[in-house]
Amino acid sequence: MGTEKAFTPVAIGSMVLSNRIVMAPTIHEMCYRGHPTEAYFAINDTYARSGVSMVCVGGATVDPGPTGEVFPNALSIADDECIFGLQRLAEGIKVHGARACQQIYHPGRAAARYWAQADPGMLPWGASAKVPFLAAPKWELTRKDGTWHAANTMPPAPVREISQEEIEQVVRMHVLAALRAKKAGYDAVNLHFANVTLIMDFISPYTNVRTDAFGGGWENRMRLPCEIVQATRAAVGKGYPLIVRIAADQGLGAAGIRFEDTLRHVVPRLDEAGVDAIDLSAGVLDHTPHRIIPPMYDARGTWLHHSEAVKKVTKLPVIVAGRLCDPRMILRAIESDRCDVAALSRPLMADPLMPRKMIEGRPDDVRMCVACGYCMTESGWTKYCAINADSARELILPKVAPAARPRKVLVVGGGPGGMEAARVARERGHDVTLCEKEDRLGGTLRVAAAAPLTREWRTFTRWHTRQIERLGVKVRLNTEVTRELVAEISPDAVIVATGSSPNREIEGADEPIVITEENVLLEGAATGKRVVVVGGAFWDVETAITLADQGKDVTVIREAETVAMNRLGPIRALPILFGMLQERNVKAMFSTKVLRIEKAGVLVSDAGGNRSLVGADTVVLSLGRTANRRLIDELQGIPAELHEIGDCVSPRSVADAVYGGRLAGARI
Ligand SMILES: Cc1cc2nc3c(=O)[nH]c(=O)nc-3n(C[C@H](O)[C@H](O)[C@H](O)COP(=O)(O)OP(=O)(O)OC[C@H]3O[C@@H](n4cnc5c(N)ncnc54)[C@H](O)[C@@H]3O)c2cc1C
Ligand SMILES: Cc1cc2nc3c(=O)[nH]c(=O)nc-3n(C[C@H](O)[C@H](O)[C@H](O)COP(=O)(O)O)c2cc1C
Repeated sequence: MGTEKAFTPVAIGSMVLSNRIVMAPTIHEMCYRGHPTEAYFAINDTYARSGVSMVCVGGATVDPGPTGEVFPNALSIADDECIFGLQRLAEGIKVHGARACQQIYHPGRAAARYWAQADPGMLPWGASAKVPFLAAPKWELTRKDGTWHAANTMPPAPVREISQEEIEQVVRMHVLAALRAKKAGYDAVNLHFANVTLIMDFISPYTNVRTDAFGGGWENRMRLPCEIVQATRAAVGKGYPLIVRIAADQGLGAAGIRFEDTLRHVVPRLDEAGVDAIDLSAGVLDHTPHRIIPPMYDARGTWLHHSEAVKKVTKLPVIVAGRLCDPRMILRAIESDRCDVAALSRPLMADPLMPRKMIEGRPDDVRMCVACGYCMTESGWTKYCAINADSARELILPKVAPAARPRKVLVVGGGPGGMEAARVARERGHDVTLCEKEDRLGGTLRVAAAAPLTREWRTFTRWHTRQIERLGVKVRLNTEVTRELVAEISPDAVIVATGSSPNREIEGADEPIVITEENVLLEGAATGKRVVVVGGAFWDVETAITLADQGKDVTVIREAETVAMNRLGPIRALPILFGMLQERNVKAMFSTKVLRIEKAGVLVSDAGGNRSLVGADTVVLSLGRTANRRLIDELQGIPAELHEIGDCVSPRSVADAVYGGRLAGARI
């Protein structure tokens, strides 16, 4: 690797990129009152060192007023005071040889997401007042009338149609913002007309029902974006690179921007208006967030068919993102002209050395993003990565530096936590032995990876396994660690990562019809025709889909009223998961208490206390998990440093396990 087309230069306007792999616009809300913080400089520094030819800093608002606020700690380019911080940001990127690009945008309806919490009385700007904004963070999956429903518990926020005068202001805001970016030293500007922007709302028939010159047919709906491009071009001058990001397909069918519209109406007009490159995104934040940030349910390279088709209607370079996590796929896509430039967002968070590893011909050492959704949901505003604890923690975590004194380290458990601890400890020069009681590595994540919907998790286990082999960790499979074995090995430090086990505490759990998710997914245990899944939390819903795909008649019973989607929420779950449940006719019984399992099914009581037997041939129990703490208790008082990490502390997630492993490995 390193000599392929992906590593040849490409021109965007007057700017020449040294290769065809770039950082896609990615916000981390690490700013303070619109200005970047040290932490934000640090993460962009990481991206700039990655080997990409350009870093596109995520969206900076162009509007200085409350109509421009969308996220609490977002970047602003809305007034001249911002230039100082932006200068440092651009310089910090360019010192590493990468080009710096700044994305600019007006949040339009999306400002409501912030206002809904801050000041519900204010009305954000929209193309039309027709479509309120549905704040995305509180989606829930529930049941109504026997079918699944995706409900949003946040009230829709109304929008105000902006006046002609305000439209002129919007054009001016974009022009001034682009000038500020140029003044700050950026090599290019990315005009954000996709995902969550006022300009996309003007383009889309879904949000624009205006009757003036800016509404109606395509000519009119494209007027504002084209005016912005033309006015910006006039201001920044010929040759200054203007990239435009569009939603190639909003995923709303004929109601929104369809891909055929993009090809016929959007790209040709923007080309004519004077942009230098087309950057493809998809989706609309409040309805199809899973299109903006595709989940692991989607194939890798999910938008390459878009870029391939767009390349046929324009001579401009075409940039595309969307699950380009696989190095070989990127090389093939560029080689075969499916896109000109590959843009990586999450893949670079998961492995900020990905392009360098590709250039060095080490594709198998790339820690591939699995698109688990953690960065966009659970991890909060900062947007951490589940599988790379270092991402966005540049200034927090202790460095993986050679240990002052190499020590003998025993890691117990080969799940993501144990493997991460072993990897980091060994990287630092310790003598590391990892013991796993099963015959292979992966831990509980093997269960998730065994489900077709979430098999992408395998990639992570494979990467970890390769890394600990490469580094020379001594792996002992089929080895259950006991206090005696610890005494025999006599380590200086023990890292316990023994994970958790499924709960079975319910009357009738010993009935022959009862099995666990592990039995179904990992061991392929046979199930009868009628399957009841008792639990119904997020992962169990995925298990229900796996079973339905095997032709089973599946019912999910859950004591709570909903499956809260906040955990892996809007990105991974909705509305794909919701659609899948409906299509497969998976039945749901919410607000239903399981009293006991019987030979012929599950005895339940509904919210009114009415009892009934739900007939089942197989019952899959998913009643949560209990931390495996026996070894920790046994090891108290041993003459070695003792660390406990991951699910054995309390059952949580991959992100917690990896974080714990990274810390423990660095502390010893
Ligand atoms: C169906 C399902 C889907 C999931 N999906 C997701 C998801 O999408 N995202 C997410 O973040 N999390 C998910 N999880 C949770 C995730 O798998 C766990 O949080 C994670 O694996 C915990 O990692 P760990 O290393 O702490 O423990 P584990 O992965 O449980 O690994 C512990 C290991 O220790 C071994 N062990 C135990 N005792 C001993 C001993 N005495 N000696 C030697 N070895 C021992 C075990 O055999 C096991 O291999 C899912 C879980 C399930 C069941
Ligand atoms: C944490 C995060 C922040 C993002 N911020 C932006 C942004 O500011 N502007 C934008 O156009 N897209 C943004 N995106 C979308 C990405 O640029 C990209 O199009 C999308 O994540 C799909 O590509 P990927 O699979 O490489 O992540 C963001 C994505 C993530 C995960």
